[in-house]
Amino acid sequence: MASSNDIVLQVDDLQVHFHGEGPVSRAVDGATFTIREAETVCIVGESGCGKTVTALAVMGLLSQPPARLAGGRIFFQGQSLLDMAPAELRALRGKRMAMVFQEPMTSLNPVFTIGNQIGEAILVHEDVAVSEARRRTIQLLADVGIADPEKRVDDYPHQLSGGQRQRAMIAMALACGPTLMIADEPTTALDVTVQAQILQLLRHLQQRNRMAIQYITHDLGVVAAIADRVYVMYAGLIIEQGTTDHIFKNPRHPYTMALLDSLPTREKRGRRLYSIPGSVPHPAYKPSGCPFHPRCPHRRPSCIERFPDMCDYGEGHLARCPILFGMEKDQA
Ligand SMILES: Nc1ncnc2c1ncn2[C@@H]1O[C@H](COP(=O)(O)OP(=O)(O)OP(=O)(O)O)[C@@H](O)[C@H]1O
Ligand SMILES: [Mg+2]
Repeated sequence: MASSNDIVLQVDDLQVHFHGEGPVSRAVDGATFTIREAETVCIVGESGCGKTVTALAVMGLLSQPPARLAGGRIFFQGQSLLDMAPAELRALRGKRMAMVFQEPMTSLNPVFTIGNQIGEAILVHEDVAVSEARRRTIQLLADVGIADPEKRVDDYPHQLSGGQRQRAMIAMALACGPTLMIADEPTTALDVTVQAQILQLLRHLQQRNRMAIQYITHDLGVVAAIADRVYVMYAGLIIEQGTTDHIFKNPRHPYTMALLDSLPTREKRGRRLYSIPGSVPHPAYKPSGCPFHPRCPHRRPSCIERFPDMCDYGEGHLARCPILFGMEKDQA
């Protein structure tokens, strides 16, 4: 078992609310997770379950208002991020923790070359000459697999393909050798081949740099390809967690099971894929008890009244559903 001092990120009972007209929107409603050094942890869940809001809270990039950090704590290498002065947080962001966003065109500035933008990321955090920043930028572009980096460094974002832009974003995130990289659906907009290349690149970089990766996706196929451990998020909180092996072979929460059933596999080829009935509840109108109960085929009357606690299945595998837990105990 790894020791606690290799924990890079610890998020405890995070609550993020949005206030507007009508009831408060509880977008993140008690998210708890941990990421260790050199580990790739996937946060997986359907659209709207709070993955991006959680990541923005960790990065200190949520605009408040409209968001409000209503509770919880975030520790980065033991330091409490929510108690940090804005200047301290800015110094950390981009240097020791960096984020790759889903759509590179929204985070790359169209009027500057990619070399300018990556170089700037270095110059902001490190006391180096412009020529040195440029040399390192070219090396970073080579590291992320961009051919002809000496030429590409002077390209504007629109001159690159979607895959190259995403690689440039990864290069920018890597610029100062972060301890933690948060990647928010970085391959969703790319075709399958380029997606596989980017995942391979991240794995390679991680092995080389021992960086921790928080990888956000709704795609369990991507999870299988990249994750060491998985947190399954639903309606703003974690409903199951475990090693990738446990989650795929022995899912314990009916929501995780349903996500796996809707995953295309070779065996299911030609058959109609299962899709989970109903939809994720709106964060301002969550049902009582377990938030998945309206969609759950295994629902019991108690699930409507009370949200079950985490059940511990051993070896770090936990699920907030007692249904299989009870069955196993009965059989023992
Ligand atoms: N600025 C905002 N104001 C009000 N509600 C917001 C705001 N930003 C996000 N939300 C709400 O918070 C909830 C969680 O959003 P979030 O973007 O984290 O979902 P997600 O899991 O990242 O989904 P996706 O897979 O589609 O990216 C959603 O219901 C969303 O509508
Ligand atoms: Mg998102």
